[in-house]
Amino acid sequence: MPRPYVLLSAAVSLDGCLDDTGPERLVLSGPADFDRVDEVRAASDAILVGAGTLRADNPRLLVNSAERRAARAATGRPEYPLKVTVSGSGDLDPALNFWSTGGEKVVYTTDLGVAKATAALRGLGVDVVPVGPALDWQAVLEDLHDVRGVRQLMVEGGGLVHTQLLQQGLADELQLALAPLVVGEPDAPRLFGPGGYPGGVRNRMRLVETRPVGDVVLMRYVPTAPGAGELASAADRHWLETACDLAAQCPPSRTAFSVGAVVVAADGTELARGYSRESDAVSHAEEAALAKLDPADPRLATATVYSSLEPCARRASRPAPCARLILDAGVRRVVTAWREPDTFVASADGSGLLAAEGADVVVLPEYEERAAGPNRHLLRAAGEQGGPGEQGE
Ligand SMILES: NC(=O)c1ccc[n+]([C@@H]2O[C@H](COP(=O)([O-])OP(=O)(O)OC[C@H]3O[C@@H](n4cnc5c(N)ncnc54)[C@H](OP(=O)(O)O)[C@@H]3O)[C@@H](O)[C@H]2O)c1
Repeated sequence: MPRPYVLLSAAVSLDGCLDDTGPERLVLSGPADFDRVDEVRAASDAILVGAGTLRADNPRLLVNSAERRAARAATGRPEYPLKVTVSGSGDLDPALNFWSTGGEKVVYTTDLGVAKATAALRGLGVDVVPVGPALDWQAVLEDLHDVRGVRQLMVEGGGLVHTQLLQQGLADELQLALAPLVVGEPDAPRLFGPGGYPGGVRNRMRLVETRPVGDVVLMRYVPTAPGAGELASAADRHWLETACDLAAQCPPSRTAFSVGAVVVAADGTELARGYSRESDAVSHAEEAALAKLDPADPRLATATVYSSLEPCARRASRPAPCARLILDAGVRRVVTAWREPDTFVASADGSGLLAAEGADVVVLPEYEERAAGPNRHLLRAAGEQGGPGEQGE
Protein backbone atom coordinates (compact mmCIF):
# COMPACT_ATOMS: atom_id res chain seq x y z
CA MET A 1 0.00 0.00 0.00
CA PRO A 2 1.40 3.45 -0.80
CA ARG A 3 1.96 5.51 2.33
CA PRO A 4 3.73 8.72 3.32
CA TYR A 5 7.46 8.98 3.92
CA VAL A 6 7.61 8.80 7.73
CA LEU A 7 10.27 10.89 9.44
CA LEU A 8 10.70 10.47 13.19
CA SER A 9 12.06 13.62 14.80
CA ALA A 10 13.17 14.09 18.40
CA ALA A 11 15.61 15.85 20.67
CA VAL A 12 17.29 13.51 23.16
CA SER A 13 19.61 13.84 26.10
CA LEU A 14 22.94 11.99 26.22
CA ASP A 15 21.19 9.23 28.19
CA GLY A 16 18.41 8.83 25.61
CA CYS A 17 15.64 10.75 27.41
CA LEU A 18 12.97 12.88 25.74
CA ASP A 19 12.14 14.82 28.86
CA ASP A 20 12.63 14.72 32.63
CA THR A 21 9.91 13.92 35.17
CA GLY A 22 9.31 17.50 36.24
CA PRO A 23 6.08 19.39 35.48
CA GLU A 24 7.70 21.70 32.90
CA ARG A 25 8.86 20.49 29.51
CA LEU A 26 12.63 19.97 29.48
CA VAL A 27 14.14 22.11 26.73
CA LEU A 28 16.75 20.00 24.97
CA SER A 29 17.32 21.93 21.72
CA GLY A 30 18.64 25.45 21.26
CA PRO A 31 17.40 28.25 18.97
CA ALA A 32 19.35 27.01 15.91
CA ASP A 33 17.83 23.56 16.22
CA PHE A 34 14.31 24.91 16.73
CA ASP A 35 14.81 26.77 13.45
CA ARG A 36 16.00 23.55 11.76
CA VAL A 37 12.87 21.77 13.05
CA ASP A 38 10.76 24.63 11.70
CA GLU A 39 12.32 24.06 8.28
CA VAL A 40 11.55 20.33 8.38
CA ARG A 41 7.97 21.10 9.42
CA ALA A 42 7.62 23.50 6.51
CA ALA A 43 8.80 20.77 4.14
CA SER A 44 6.27 18.26 5.52
CA ASP A 45 2.63 17.78 4.60
CA ALA A 46 1.63 16.75 8.11
CA ILE A 47 2.99 16.73 11.69
CA LEU A 48 1.95 13.99 14.12
CA VAL A 49 2.28 13.71 17.89
CA GLY A 50 0.70 11.29 20.35
CA ALA A 51 -1.97 12.38 22.79
CA GLY A 52 0.59 11.93 25.59
CA THR A 53 2.71 14.74 24.16
CA LEU A 54 -0.36 16.98 23.80
CA ARG A 55 -1.13 16.46 27.50
CA ALA A 56 2.46 16.81 28.71
CA ASP A 57 3.69 19.71 26.58
CA ASN A 58 0.60 21.49 25.17
CA PRO A 59 2.49 22.21 21.90
CA ARG A 60 1.27 24.38 19.00
CA LEU A 61 3.23 22.56 16.28
CA LEU A 62 3.30 25.46 13.83
CA VAL A 63 5.60 26.63 11.07
CA ASN A 64 6.86 29.73 12.85
CA SER A 65 8.71 31.42 10.01
CA ALA A 66 6.46 33.74 7.98
CA GLU A 67 8.80 33.29 4.97
CA ARG A 68 8.41 29.52 5.09
CA ARG A 69 4.64 29.79 5.37
CA ALA A 70 4.60 32.17 2.42
CA ALA A 71 6.75 29.77 0.42
CA ARG A 72 4.29 26.96 1.13
CA ALA A 73 1.36 29.12 0.07
CA ALA A 74 3.19 30.16 -3.10
CA THR A 75 3.36 26.53 -4.16
CA GLY A 76 -0.36 26.02 -3.56
CA ARG A 77 0.03 24.26 -0.21
CA PRO A 78 -1.73 25.31 3.00
CA GLU A 79 0.33 27.70 5.09
CA TYR A 80 0.47 25.15 7.91
CA PRO A 81 0.94 21.40 7.61
CA LEU A 82 -1.97 19.21 8.65
CA LYS A 83 -1.77 18.51 12.42
CA VAL A 84 -2.40 14.92 13.44
CA THR A 85 -2.73 13.17 16.77
CA VAL A 86 -3.54 9.64 17.88
CA SER A 87 -5.55 8.74 20.97
CA GLY A 88 -6.92 5.35 21.93
CA SER A 89 -9.00 6.74 24.78
CA GLY A 90 -10.43 9.75 22.96
CA ASP A 91 -9.75 11.66 26.15
CA LEU A 92 -8.67 14.99 24.65
CA ASP A 93 -8.81 18.41 26.28
CA PRO A 94 -10.41 20.94 23.88
CA ALA A 95 -8.56 23.81 25.59
CA LEU A 96 -5.14 22.62 24.34
CA ASN A 97 -3.18 24.91 21.99
CA PHE A 98 -3.09 22.15 19.37
CA TRP A 99 -6.75 22.72 18.44
CA SER A 100 -6.83 26.51 18.36
CA THR A 101 -3.72 27.18 16.26
CA GLY A 102 -2.55 26.38 12.73
CA GLY A 103 -4.62 24.82 9.97
CA GLU A 104 -6.46 21.53 9.54
CA LYS A 105 -6.43 18.87 12.26
CA VAL A 106 -7.25 15.20 12.40
CA VAL A 107 -7.47 12.71 15.28
CA TYR A 108 -7.11 8.98 14.71
CA THR A 109 -8.76 6.95 17.40
CA THR A 110 -10.35 3.59 18.11
CA ASP A 111 -13.96 2.45 17.93
CA LEU A 112 -14.03 2.91 21.71
CA GLY A 113 -12.50 6.39 21.70
CA VAL A 114 -14.47 7.93 18.85
CA ALA A 115 -17.58 9.02 20.80
CA LYS A 116 -15.53 10.68 23.55
CA ALA A 117 -13.19 12.45 21.11
CA THR A 118 -16.06 13.65 18.94
CA ALA A 119 -17.92 15.03 21.96
CA ALA A 120 -14.80 16.73 23.38
CA LEU A 121 -13.84 18.40 20.09
CA ARG A 122 -17.31 19.34 18.84
CA GLY A 123 -17.34 22.70 17.09
CA LEU A 124 -13.56 22.88 16.69
CA GLY A 125 -13.58 21.67 13.08
CA VAL A 126 -11.44 18.65 13.85
CA ASP A 127 -11.83 15.47 11.80
CA VAL A 128 -12.14 12.45 14.15
CA VAL A 129 -11.42 9.16 12.40
CA PRO A 130 -11.87 5.73 14.02
CA VAL A 131 -9.52 3.08 12.60
CA GLY A 132 -10.94 -0.04 14.23
CA PRO A 133 -10.98 -1.73 17.64
CA ALA A 134 -7.26 -0.92 18.10
CA LEU A 135 -5.10 1.84 16.69
CA ASP A 136 -3.83 0.37 13.43
CA TRP A 137 -0.81 2.37 12.21
CA GLN A 138 -1.03 0.96 8.69
CA ALA A 139 -4.62 2.24 8.49
CA VAL A 140 -3.56 5.66 9.85
CA LEU A 141 -0.79 6.00 7.26
CA GLU A 142 -3.02 4.77 4.45
CA ASP A 143 -5.71 7.32 5.33
CA LEU A 144 -3.13 10.12 5.52
CA HIS A 145 -1.77 9.17 2.11
CA ASP A 146 -4.94 8.33 0.22
CA VAL A 147 -7.51 10.65 1.75
CA ARG A 148 -5.41 13.63 2.80
CA GLY A 149 -2.65 13.55 0.18
CA VAL A 150 0.17 13.41 2.75
CA ARG A 151 3.47 12.46 1.14
CA GLN A 152 5.82 13.40 4.00
CA LEU A 153 4.77 12.89 7.60
CA MET A 154 6.93 14.38 10.34
CA VAL A 155 6.41 12.58 13.66
CA GLU A 156 7.43 14.64 16.69
CA GLY A 157 6.91 12.12 19.47
CA GLY A 158 6.47 11.09 22.06
CA GLY A 159 8.23 7.93 23.06
CA LEU A 160 5.28 5.57 22.66
CA VAL A 161 4.53 6.76 19.14
CA HIS A 162 8.21 6.66 18.04
CA THR A 163 8.61 3.19 19.54
CA GLN A 164 5.62 1.72 17.72
CA LEU A 165 6.50 3.20 14.33
CA LEU A 166 10.08 1.95 14.54
CA GLN A 167 9.09 -1.48 15.87
CA GLN A 168 6.51 -1.92 13.11
CA GLY A 169 9.04 -1.08 10.39
CA LEU A 170 7.13 2.05 9.41
CA ALA A 171 9.82 4.70 9.99
CA ASP A 172 11.71 5.78 6.87
CA GLU A 173 14.11 8.08 8.65
CA LEU A 174 15.16 9.15 12.15
CA GLN A 175 16.29 12.71 12.85
CA LEU A 176 17.75 12.98 16.32
CA ALA A 177 19.13 16.10 17.92
CA LEU A 178 21.55 14.96 20.62
CA ALA A 179 21.60 17.54 23.41
CA PRO A 180 24.66 17.95 25.67
CA LEU A 181 22.98 17.10 28.95
CA VAL A 182 22.22 14.06 31.08
CA VAL A 183 18.79 13.59 32.68
CA GLY A 184 19.72 10.67 34.93
CA GLU A 185 16.19 9.89 36.16
CA PRO A 186 15.11 6.24 35.88
CA ASP A 187 11.48 7.17 35.16
CA ALA A 188 12.13 9.87 32.58
CA PRO A 189 10.49 9.16 29.18
CA ARG A 190 12.86 7.41 26.78
CA LEU A 191 13.06 7.85 23.01
CA PHE A 192 12.54 4.14 22.36
CA GLY A 193 10.97 1.67 24.76
CA PRO A 194 11.60 -2.04 25.26
CA GLY A 195 10.38 -4.62 22.75
CA GLY A 196 11.37 -6.20 19.47
CA TYR A 197 12.79 -4.03 16.68
CA PRO A 198 13.20 -5.10 13.02
CA GLY A 199 16.43 -7.00 12.50
CA GLY A 200 16.99 -7.49 16.23
CA VAL A 201 19.81 -6.14 18.31
CA ARG A 202 22.37 -6.72 15.54
CA ASN A 203 20.59 -4.39 13.13
CA ARG A 204 22.65 -1.31 12.44
CA MET A 205 20.83 1.55 10.81
CA ARG A 206 22.55 3.55 8.13
CA LEU A 207 23.92 6.91 9.22
CA VAL A 208 23.18 9.40 6.44
CA GLU A 209 24.17 12.69 8.05
CA THR A 210 25.68 14.28 11.15
CA ARG A 211 25.78 18.02 11.61
CA PRO A 212 26.38 20.34 14.57
CA VAL A 213 23.41 22.69 15.03
CA GLY A 214 24.31 25.16 17.77
CA ASP A 215 25.30 22.97 20.73
CA VAL A 216 23.31 19.91 19.64
CA VAL A 217 24.32 17.37 17.01
CA LEU A 218 21.81 16.35 14.36
CA MET A 219 22.04 12.68 13.41
CA ARG A 220 19.99 11.23 10.57
CA TYR A 221 19.58 7.47 10.23
CA VAL A 222 17.62 5.22 7.91
CA PRO A 223 16.52 1.75 9.05
CA THR A 224 18.02 -1.17 7.08
CA ALA A 225 16.33 -4.38 8.34
CA PRO A 226 14.00 -5.99 5.78
CA GLY A 227 10.36 -6.55 6.64
CA ALA A 228 8.91 -9.98 7.31
CA GLY A 229 6.56 -12.00 5.10
CA GLU A 230 4.25 -10.06 2.84
CA LEU A 231 4.42 -6.83 4.81
CA ALA A 232 6.71 -4.19 3.35
CA SER A 233 8.82 -2.24 5.83
CA ALA A 234 10.32 1.19 5.28
CA ALA A 235 13.72 -0.48 4.82
CA ASP A 236 12.25 -2.68 2.07
CA ARG A 237 11.50 0.51 0.17
CA HIS A 238 15.02 1.86 0.60
CA TRP A 239 16.59 -1.39 -0.62
CA LEU A 240 14.25 -1.54 -3.58
CA GLU A 241 15.26 2.01 -4.47
CA THR A 242 18.89 0.83 -4.38
CA ALA A 243 17.99 -1.99 -6.80
CA CYS A 244 16.30 0.55 -9.10
CA ASP A 245 19.41 2.76 -8.95
CA LEU A 246 21.55 -0.23 -9.95
CA ALA A 247 19.22 -0.90 -12.90
CA ALA A 248 19.98 2.58 -14.16
CA GLN A 249 23.72 1.76 -14.19
CA CYS A 250 23.53 -1.36 -16.40
CA PRO A 251 25.45 -1.45 -19.70
CA PRO A 252 22.75 -0.51 -22.21
CA SER A 253 21.08 -3.18 -24.34
CA ARG A 254 18.46 -3.22 -27.05
CA THR A 255 17.67 -6.90 -26.48
CA ALA A 256 17.44 -7.34 -22.70
CA PHE A 257 16.10 -5.61 -19.60
CA SER A 258 18.27 -3.53 -17.31
CA VAL A 259 17.70 -4.76 -13.77
CA GLY A 260 19.33 -4.22 -10.38
CA ALA A 261 19.33 -6.63 -7.43
CA VAL A 262 20.47 -6.58 -3.79
CA VAL A 263 20.59 -9.45 -1.31
CA VAL A 264 20.08 -8.31 2.30
CA ALA A 265 20.34 -10.36 5.51
CA ALA A 266 17.57 -10.24 8.12
CA ASP A 267 19.68 -7.95 10.33
CA GLY A 268 19.97 -5.40 7.51
CA THR A 269 23.50 -6.33 6.37
CA GLU A 270 23.93 -6.04 2.62
CA LEU A 271 25.26 -9.41 1.43
CA ALA A 272 25.68 -8.75 -2.30
CA ARG A 273 24.43 -6.68 -5.17
CA GLY A 274 24.39 -7.14 -8.92
CA TYR A 275 23.06 -5.75 -12.17
CA SER A 276 22.27 -6.97 -15.67
CA ARG A 277 25.29 -7.80 -17.88
CA GLU A 278 27.62 -7.23 -14.94
CA SER A 279 29.76 -10.35 -15.44
CA ASP A 280 29.07 -11.20 -19.09
CA ALA A 281 26.80 -10.15 -21.94
CA VAL A 282 23.81 -12.18 -20.75
CA SER A 283 24.10 -12.24 -16.95
CA HIS A 284 21.05 -11.22 -14.94
CA ALA A 285 21.07 -9.02 -11.84
CA GLU A 286 19.93 -11.62 -9.29
CA GLU A 287 22.30 -14.19 -10.79
CA ALA A 288 25.21 -11.73 -10.58
CA ALA A 289 24.43 -10.92 -6.95
CA LEU A 290 23.94 -14.55 -5.82
CA ALA A 291 27.14 -15.63 -7.58
CA LYS A 292 29.10 -13.44 -5.15
CA LEU A 293 27.84 -15.42 -2.15
CA ASP A 294 28.90 -18.71 -0.60
CA PRO A 295 25.89 -21.02 -1.22
CA ALA A 296 26.40 -22.36 2.32
CA ASP A 297 26.01 -18.89 3.88
CA PRO A 298 23.43 -19.51 6.66
CA ARG A 299 22.12 -15.96 6.33
CA LEU A 300 20.54 -16.76 2.96
CA ALA A 301 17.65 -18.68 4.57
CA THR A 302 16.35 -15.48 6.18
CA ALA A 303 17.59 -13.01 3.58
CA THR A 304 15.52 -10.90 1.20
CA VAL A 305 16.32 -10.43 -2.50
CA TYR A 306 15.36 -7.02 -3.90
CA SER A 307 15.02 -6.91 -7.65
CA SER A 308 13.81 -3.95 -9.70
CA LEU A 309 12.09 -6.39 -12.11
CA GLU A 310 10.57 -9.64 -10.89
CA PRO A 311 13.03 -12.56 -11.20
CA CYS A 312 12.75 -14.37 -14.52
CA ALA A 313 10.84 -17.64 -14.77
CA ARG A 314 12.18 -18.85 -18.14
CA ARG A 315 15.54 -18.34 -19.76
CA ALA A 316 17.21 -19.52 -22.98
CA SER A 317 20.82 -18.62 -22.25
CA ARG A 318 21.28 -20.41 -18.91
CA PRO A 319 20.09 -23.70 -17.45
CA ALA A 320 18.13 -22.07 -14.60
CA PRO A 321 16.07 -18.86 -14.44
CA CYS A 322 16.64 -16.42 -11.60
CA ALA A 323 13.52 -17.47 -9.67
CA ARG A 324 15.02 -20.99 -9.51
CA LEU A 325 18.46 -19.65 -8.50
CA ILE A 326 16.84 -17.71 -5.65
CA LEU A 327 14.91 -20.76 -4.43
CA ASP A 328 17.97 -22.98 -4.70
CA ALA A 329 19.96 -20.45 -2.67
CA GLY A 330 17.41 -20.96 0.12
CA VAL A 331 16.04 -17.41 -0.02
CA ARG A 332 12.34 -17.23 0.78
CA ARG A 333 11.53 -13.55 0.43
CA VAL A 334 11.65 -11.35 -2.66
CA VAL A 335 10.68 -7.68 -3.02
CA THR A 336 10.21 -6.31 -6.50
CA ALA A 337 8.88 -3.20 -8.19
CA TRP A 338 7.72 -4.42 -11.55
CA ARG A 339 6.02 -7.55 -12.87
CA GLU A 340 7.72 -8.70 -16.08
CA PRO A 341 5.92 -7.34 -19.12
CA ASP A 342 5.43 -9.50 -22.25
CA THR A 343 8.26 -7.74 -24.07
CA PHE A 344 10.50 -10.79 -24.44
CA VAL A 345 8.60 -13.66 -22.80
CA ALA A 346 4.83 -14.03 -22.92
CA SER A 347 3.19 -14.47 -19.50
CA ALA A 348 6.44 -14.74 -17.57
CA ASP A 349 5.51 -15.30 -13.94
CA GLY A 350 8.62 -15.44 -11.79
CA SER A 351 6.57 -14.30 -8.81
CA GLY A 352 4.20 -17.23 -9.31
CA LEU A 353 7.08 -19.69 -9.46
CA LEU A 354 8.57 -18.26 -6.25
CA ALA A 355 5.23 -18.24 -4.43
CA ALA A 356 4.43 -21.80 -5.52
CA GLU A 357 7.51 -22.94 -3.65
CA GLY A 358 6.72 -21.05 -0.49
CA ALA A 359 8.53 -17.77 -1.00
CA ASP A 360 6.92 -14.47 -0.01
CA VAL A 361 6.84 -12.07 -2.93
CA VAL A 362 6.15 -8.42 -2.22
CA VAL A 363 5.41 -6.20 -5.21
CA LEU A 364 5.62 -2.44 -4.65
CA PRO A 365 4.10 -0.97 -7.81
CA GLU A 366 4.79 2.58 -6.68
CA TYR A 367 8.41 1.93 -7.76
CA GLU A 368 7.45 0.49 -11.14
CA GLU A 369 8.09 3.69 -13.02
CA ARG A 370 11.56 3.94 -11.53
CA ALA A 371 12.33 0.29 -12.40
CA ALA A 372 10.98 0.66 -15.91
CA GLY A 373 12.85 3.94 -16.53
CA PRO A 374 16.07 2.41 -17.95
CA ASN A 375 13.95 0.07 -20.11
CA ARG A 376 11.66 2.56 -21.83
CA HIS A 377 13.31 2.00 -25.24
CA LEU A 378 12.53 -1.74 -25.00
CA LEU A 379 8.90 -1.14 -24.14
CA ARG A 380 8.51 1.34 -27.02
CA ALA A 381 10.18 -1.06 -29.47
CA ALA A 382 7.95 -3.96 -28.36
CA GLY A 383 4.90 -1.75 -28.82
CA GLU A 384 6.02 -0.85 -32.33
CA GLN A 385 6.67 -4.49 -33.22
CA GLY A 386 3.32 -5.46 -31.75
CA GLY A 387 4.09 -8.05 -29.12
CA PRO A 388 6.51 -10.45 -27.47
CA GLY A 389 9.58 -11.59 -29.31
CA GLU A 390 12.75 -13.39 -28.29
CA GLN A 391 13.76 -13.82 -24.64
CA GLY A 392 15.57 -10.78 -23.41
CA GLU A 393 19.24 -11.63 -23.28
N1 LIG B 1 12.28 15.62 23.21
C1 LIG B 1 11.40 15.56 22.24
O1 LIG B 1 11.73 15.76 21.07
C2 LIG B 1 9.98 15.21 22.59
C3 LIG B 1 9.00 15.23 21.57
C4 LIG B 1 7.70 14.85 21.90
C5 LIG B 1 7.39 14.46 23.19
N2 LIG B 1 8.38 14.45 24.13
C6 LIG B 1 8.07 13.98 25.49
O2 LIG B 1 7.49 12.69 25.40
C7 LIG B 1 6.62 12.51 26.51
C8 LIG B 1 5.30 11.97 26.00
O3 LIG B 1 5.53 10.73 25.40
P1 LIG B 1 4.52 9.53 25.64
O4 LIG B 1 5.20 8.28 25.18
O5 LIG B 1 4.01 9.57 27.02
O6 LIG B 1 3.27 9.90 24.75
P2 LIG B 1 2.99 9.94 23.17
O7 LIG B 1 3.77 8.92 22.44
O8 LIG B 1 3.07 11.35 22.71
O9 LIG B 1 1.44 9.56 23.16
C9 LIG B 1 0.99 8.35 23.70
C10 LIG B 1 -0.51 8.34 23.57
O10 LIG B 1 -0.88 8.26 22.19
C11 LIG B 1 -1.99 7.38 22.06
N3 LIG B 1 -1.50 6.16 21.40
C12 LIG B 1 -0.29 5.95 20.87
N4 LIG B 1 -0.21 4.71 20.33
C13 LIG B 1 -1.42 4.14 20.54
C14 LIG B 1 -1.98 2.88 20.22
N5 LIG B 1 -1.28 1.95 19.57
N6 LIG B 1 -3.25 2.62 20.59
C15 LIG B 1 -3.97 3.55 21.23
N7 LIG B 1 -3.51 4.77 21.57
C16 LIG B 1 -2.25 5.06 21.22
C17 LIG B 1 -2.46 7.07 23.46
O11 LIG B 1 -3.35 8.10 23.76
P3 LIG B 1 -4.55 7.95 24.84
O12 LIG B 1 -3.85 7.96 26.17
O13 LIG B 1 -5.42 9.12 24.59
O14 LIG B 1 -5.22 6.63 24.56
C18 LIG B 1 -1.16 7.17 24.24
O15 LIG B 1 -1.36 7.40 25.62
C19 LIG B 1 6.49 13.86 27.18
O16 LIG B 1 7.30 13.87 28.33
C20 LIG B 1 7.05 14.83 26.16
O17 LIG B 1 7.66 15.94 26.74
C21 LIG B 1 9.64 14.84 23.86
